[in-house]
Order: sequence, then C-alpha cells, then structure tokens
Amino acid sequence: MALPASDLSKQPDNRTTMDLGRVLPCTAEVRDGHLFIGGVDMAELAREEGTALYVFDEADLRWRMEEYLRAFRSRYAQTDVVYASKAFLNKAAVRIADELGLCLDVSGGGELACALSAGFPAERVVMHGNNKTPVELEEAMRAGVGRIVVDSRIELARISEIAGRLGITQGIFMRITPGVEADTHEYIRTGCEDSKFGFTMKDDFAYTCVGTALETPHVHLAGFHCHIGSQIFALHSFREAADVMVGFMARVRDGYGHTVEELDLGGGLGIAYVADDEPPTIDEFAEGTCSAVREACEARDLPLPRLLVEPGRSLVANAGVTLYTVGILKTLPGIRKFVAVDGGMSDNIRTALYHADYEPTLANKADQPRTEIVTLCGKHCESGDAVVVDMPLQKAEVGDIVCVFGTGAYCATMASNYNGQPRPAVVFVRDGEARVTTRRETYEDLYARDL
Ligand code: LLP
Repeated sequence: MALPASDLSKQPDNRTTMDLGRVLPCTAEVRDGHLFIGGVDMAELAREEGTALYVFDEADLRWRMEEYLRAFRSRYAQTDVVYASKAFLNKAAVRIADELGLCLDVSGGGELACALSAGFPAERVVMHGNNKTPVELEEAMRAGVGRIVVDSRIELARISEIAGRLGITQGIFMRITPGVEADTHEYIRTGCEDSKFGFTMKDDFAYTCVGTALETPHVHLAGFHCHIGSQIFALHSFREAADVMVGFMARVRDGYGHTVEELDLGGGLGIAYVADDEPPTIDEFAEGTCSAVREACEARDLPLPRLLVEPGRSLVANAGVTLYTVGILKTLPGIRKFVAVDGGMSDNIRTALYHADYEPTLANKADQPRTEIVTLCGKHCESGDAVVVDMPLQKAEVGDIVCVFGTGAYCATMASNYNGQPRPAVVFVRDGEARVTTRRETYEDLYARDL
C-alpha cells in the first residue's frame, strides 16, 4: 500500500490556526503563538503527557450532546439521542453521556462491559451488531439492556431462546435496510441493498420476517432501526430513509395490525474534516429528520413514534485532536516533503483506510501562516502510513508539536499496537485543567496477556 502521488501543484493556503473555522473544537484559541484548548496550552500538555496524545475539549463534547438533545426535543416530543460509542469510548465519555441523559449504542459485549463498568444504566443501552454471539446476547439480557437490534432471523431465534431461559421479555428493534444510497465513502455506506447488515426489504423479506418476530415468544417488537451510512452531508438521504421506514411501519400496521412505538434512524451526520467542508448543523439535521418523520406519519395516518437517533462522529470528532512531536524532516525533491511524527496508522488508521483528510497545525506556532504543503507520515513500517497527506503546515522543525484536528471519532477506537506502539493516553481539558481519562499504554501492557 503506497501513498497517493503528491499533487505538486497544490498551493499552501497561508491560513493560521484560527482560520480553520468549523474543524476547531469550540474553545480553541491562540495565545502568544500557542494553541490553547479548554484553556490548556497544547504544546505544554504534549511535553507533560508525552505524544502521541488524544485530547478532548470537554466543553465542546458537552455542547454537542446538549445541542442534539435540544435540537430534537424542541421539535419532537419523544426523542432519545443514543450516543454511538464506537466513535469514541472511555469511562469519562460514558459518564458525561449518562449525566446529560443520552442513551448509548454499543456494538458488542466489550463496549457494553465498558459502559456498565462506568455505571451506565443498562435500560438506556441499545445493542447492535450483525453477529452478536450467544454469549454477548446473554450478557446483554442478564444486564437488562433496553433494546437489542435484531439483525437476522438466526439472531431472532437466539434472543428468544435466551430470553425464555432467563424468564424475561426482551425489547427488540429489527434493523431494516431501506435501500437508500447515501453519498459517502463506499466502505461506510450501509443502507444500500448489498449490505451485510439488517433485513433487506427486497422481495418482502423484511416484511415477512416481521410476521415471524410478532409470533416469536419472549420478545417484544418495539420498533424498527436503520442506519444508512456515515459522514453524510446530504439531508435528503436521511429524509428519504425516514420516509421509507415510516412507509414500512404503515405497511406492518396494515398487514399485521401491529403499530410499533419506536423508530431509530441510526447515525451518520457528517462533520467538517477540512476547513472548507460545510456539513449541515445539528439543528438543520434535527429539522430535516423531525419534519420528514412527521410528514411521513401524517401522510399515512400513523401516530408519531418515539424517535431515536444514534450520532457518533458528529458528537465527538471535532471535540478531539491528536498531538504529535515532529521527529524527522525529509524532503524528496519533486516528490513531496515528509514531516514524520511519533504515531501514525496505529492511532489513526482512517487516512490509510479511507484516504481521510485532516487539518494540521503546529501548536507552538499556531499564529503563523501555513506556508508549506507536507505529508505527515507516521513511524510505522508501512509506506501508506500517514496521518495527513498533502496539507498546508507552518514551516516545521524537529521538536515542534503538531495538532491534527477532527480526530475525536474512530481514531482511538480503531487504534492498534502495530509495531509495538503503545496506544496514546486520552486527556480531557476543561476550564484550564487537564485530566487524564485513559492512561497511556506501557510496554508491559503490550505483553501482559502473553503466557
Ligand atoms: N448506528 C449504527 C448502527 C452504526 O453502525 C453507526 C456507525 C452509528 C450509529 C454512528 O454513525 P456516525 O454518526 O458516527 O456516522 N470507521 C468509520 C465509520 C464507521 C461507522 C460505523 N457505524 C470511519 O472512521 O469513518
């Protein structure tokens, strides 16, 4: 795997840090040339805690969670905002989500265990996964997880069997693929027909399976779920999905005489990774979604269901940044300029995996214009190991602190120990205070499981 060839015609944008707009966490500011987040000097924090380091702006995270709740609840009476913890998960984040009254999406036994260990109430957990093992299902049901999202017929039978054995009735959603092609990277597109997730509507398969679910003992079919993909800017895709799902609810009412109470439209709202990205705001997303559900229900004379949304990225991505120290500089004349940092694909696989773009800045030169086009490569034994490809940066020197914005989602949770790299610590900053919420891995952690 190699890097895409550098675009040598690309010009630096000469922006300084504060020109990066939407990609910045809300408390970002520059004082005496240094980047501050949550009132904390990022260059100083990097020296104290070491790099690579994940940093979260707690005020930004709280603001986005509260904004989701406000935007939906002010428009639609019964709403739950379900934080998709696959985007970022540690106990501190779970506790904040709990404190603010969000629900939690977990996609397996491990995420569930982390949530429960932080004291998150199981009844506000929604469990996902296309192949939850019988053990994971039983763990969830014993803990009292509120909703399990059923992904297949085999799983429906598994849940029924376990619930019967435990003497409970398990609340379930059925995940439906609404056939909506969202405009995003094909690896993270999930609502289209050729998907491993959920029940396809093709040939009435999903509809037929609803009949089975309604006759299955020990489960209560509370609602339907869909998730059309991730990093989506087109609100019409969400509206289309809402309409298809409400249409399906109406068909189930008409055919089976059963009106489900809840509709979970999944996550997927995109965020600004680069300064010129213009994603819809949380408020615009809420308006588009709530009005689509309301209109679709009115058209089919359906009572409004309780509405659930499952944002991950749009809650945490812009709240998080990654700090690195510049270690090596290498210019390949006529090819590209490399700035090597002390992390890479082990703490951020998204660039290698999806060709993701990020905005970097030098935290200790944050007021200077970004006058060079560079590739921030990592330290791993892989040619495609880069965090940022062909983006503007201030003139870097060995020892500078690089801050890469927008890394709060799907970086820490997709991190690895490739090349024996200990995974970074996670620090939450707020009101001038920094608290380590996940400690850095040690070398001992790397072989602690070896017998
Ligand atoms: N609900 C379900 C059932 C999901 O599968 C996902 C994400 C979400 C909610 C949250 O979606 P979000 O709001 O974050 O878009 N690793 C990829 C993203 C994979 C998304 C998987 N599912 C990336 O780094 O872009």
